[in-house]
Amino acid sequence: MRRPLIAGNWKMNLNGAQAVALAQGVARGAASVPHVDLAVFPPFVYLPAVRTALENSRVSLGAQNLYAANMGAYTGEVCAAMLLDVGCTQVILGHSERRTLLGESDADVNLKTKAALAAGLTPVVCVGESKAQRESGQTTSVVRGQAERSLAGLSAEEMTKTVLAYEPVWAIGTGLTATPEQAQEVHKDLRNFLAERYNAALANGVRILYGGSVKADNAASLLSRPDIDGALVGGASLKSEEFLAIAKGAPA
Ligand code: PGA
Repeated sequence: MRRPLIAGNWKMNLNGAQAVALAQGVARGAASVPHVDLAVFPPFVYLPAVRTALENSRVSLGAQNLYAANMGAYTGEVCAAMLLDVGCTQVILGHSERRTLLGESDADVNLKTKAALAAGLTPVVCVGESKAQRESGQTTSVVRGQAERSLAGLSAEEMTKTVLAYEPVWAIGTGLTATPEQAQEVHKDLRNFLAERYNAALANGVRILYGGSVKADNAASLLSRPDIDGALVGGASLKSEEFLAIAKGAPA
């Protein structure tokens, strides 16, 4: 019912030629994973070149952030309309690196999510607890709180157009991965949260991705869990073979 989505967050990596080559590799391999939706999220400056590289493929294009205002005097920022203009259909919002390094708050993420939805972009909204929060037993309350505030005011229709990503901060780029049981527990709770807030049918339709050191060798065990609907992949998305091998781990 929920098609798996494997999303590659390229972060601030690659040069233009490498970005194009990676996109071409993913596009070529997409035929080997017909049961999976694929999306790549290059740095802003490479979006037009990657769009061209993905032409006639079924790989979607997304950005890693946006600014929640319409065009205007916002030096250094990029708005939803610009992302649409260069072919994006999705946008990652509230990634923990932005929350931690750039001070993005849940309120910011909420505004950005609404701006994305208003423009017709699919927001991929990230939530996740730190190591200290997990160790002190706060995982559920932290993740629910982030979800609650980041998704505040979304109508049911908007929520069905939104993707969630559970990314435990301690697992991002560290080589530590949440066990499939740990991830499933949080994903299930997020789905319960959506069921309480909207309804069970809506909750059953929303895709919830796991992110945090997903690799080809741990993808299948994570993706086999009932509430894990895909992966948001950082480091391992920078090689097309590895990224596609992760997608192959999604149950058909
Ligand atoms: P990672 O990053 O796969 O390198 O841990 C995941 C992410 O930050 O989305």
